[in-house]
Amino acid sequence: MGSISIIGTGNMARTIGALAVAGGNTVEVMGRDQAKAADLAKALGGSATTGEWGAVPAGDIVIVALLSAGVVPAVAHYGDALAGKVIVDISNPFNSAADGLVHGEGTSIAQEAAKAAPAGASVVKAFNTIFRHVLEKGRPAVFIAGDDAHAKARVETFVKSLGLRPLDVGDLKMAYWLEGAGVITMGLARHGVGNWDFALDVA
Ligand SMILES: NC(=O)c1ccc[n+]([C@@H]2O[C@H](COP(=O)([O-])OP(=O)(O)OC[C@H]3O[C@@H](n4cnc5c(N)ncnc54)[C@H](OP(=O)(O)O)[C@@H]3O)[C@@H](O)[C@H]2O)c1
Repeated sequence: MGSISIIGTGNMARTIGALAVAGGNTVEVMGRDQAKAADLAKALGGSATTGEWGAVPAGDIVIVALLSAGVVPAVAHYGDALAGKVIVDISNPFNSAADGLVHGEGTSIAQEAAKAAPAGASVVKAFNTIFRHVLEKGRPAVFIAGDDAHAKARVETFVKSLGLRPLDVGDLKMAYWLEGAGVITMGLARHGVGNWDFALDVA
């Protein structure tokens, strides 16, 4: 199977990391707090290892599992260490009420991350529309967006290794709408659905 690095040590890092290990992937964890990264790698078991914050990731696919405000600064901090990597942005840049985005139309965290990424790296948006506990227990579709067909194909292979269904929504500019879909998911949880145990899917 594949080789991935996860930048981040929080809930989504743990959930995606656990699914990745179960799917037979080699997993590396990188956190700004090295002790948290080591703890998560140990908890994930398998062959999970710890990498140093800012060093060249071991994985071909690098999942940035940070709060949205940390994504672009982290990509900029890694800089050339990410050359040639497929960078996966999973963030939801919600405003404080979680009924809108912190940025306006025409951009997204994924597009801003692409601007900060080195030449030869490709950014793919994925996973952001799925609540963590649904990802853990369910089999939701994983919407992905990106400009590089080869990078998207690699992310699709990774998503399938988790037992999930990748669904391509188009170019990276569609990341804006995926981030909007994250807002819709929050609205559905609070209103029409009334609980947090669901995911957007295609019937
Ligand atoms: N939870 C969900 O259901 C869900 C679903 C879909 C997408 N997402 C997205 O996934 C991402 C991670 O969410 P989460 O639930 O895993 O959050 P979390 O448990 O709070 O973990 C956040 C991680 O981000 C790091 N971090 C926070 N601010 C940072 C900064 N400025 N620079 C570098 N690192 C920073 C934290 O590091 P420290 O521990 O060192 O502070 C931690 O590793 C978010 O963008 C979120 O929108 C979450």
